[in-house]
Amino acid sequence: MTSEFKLSPSILSADFSNLQLALDQCADGGAHWIHIDVMDNQFVPNLTIGPPVVKSLRSKTQKFLDVHMMVVEPEKLVEPFAKAGADMITFHIEATDDPLSVINLIRSTGSKVGISLKPSTPVSDIEPFFDKIDLVLVMSVDPGFGGQGYIDASTNRIIEIKQKLVEQCLQDRVLIEVDGGIKLHNAKEVLDAGADVLVAGSAIFGTDDPANTIKEFYNI
Ligand code: DX5
Ligand code: ZN
Repeated sequence: MTSEFKLSPSILSADFSNLQLALDQCADGGAHWIHIDVMDNQFVPNLTIGPPVVKSLRSKTQKFLDVHMMVVEPEKLVEPFAKAGADMITFHIEATDDPLSVINLIRSTGSKVGISLKPSTPVSDIEPFFDKIDLVLVMSVDPGFGGQGYIDASTNRIIEIKQKLVEQCLQDRVLIEVDGGIKLHNAKEVLDAGADVLVAGSAIFGTDDPANTIKEFYNI
């Protein structure tokens, strides 16, 4: 199974003054997706990327743009990100009282639909939506910043989510993506627990040769 996983390098840890270089490194390394961390200084303390940047990235790459919205009122940003060219739009379950309408809104744009949950949020909060989404984004750090350590309890949460997807016969339709603290040394543990997509930021862009590090991930 490990050979089939997708890597989604997080450009949060790349040099924002030279995102073309980050795209080139992802292309050279053979990464499948590009992970884009959207932070609004409200849902999380940090402030990062908006739709104009996604539009510029879209014009430079054919890769799957994986937009992770860590924002309040996610419904306000769905259409702007879809128009900018996002292939997957993921929102946080903690950021809305009406997840179903956010799901339907994302779906209506033609983008794929993801739901994310913080490490402290019970899996039962997202379970009712499994049959309506394409991806669960399991946060394995508290959202907001790159370079944090993997929270070990995340592994059992991935196993729990995979088991629930299997119970609902959705394991082939709903991907599990894991985000936060993923390194070469723990990637196999996360994949063995049931992850289909790995996000890695500092583990890739914090090295001297990001393209080669991407290749190393695919060889674990
Ligand atoms: C954190 C972000 C992550 C971050 C991961 O809030 O959602 O995508 O870029 O960075 P690393 O891989 O350095 O933990
Ligand atoms: Zn992320």
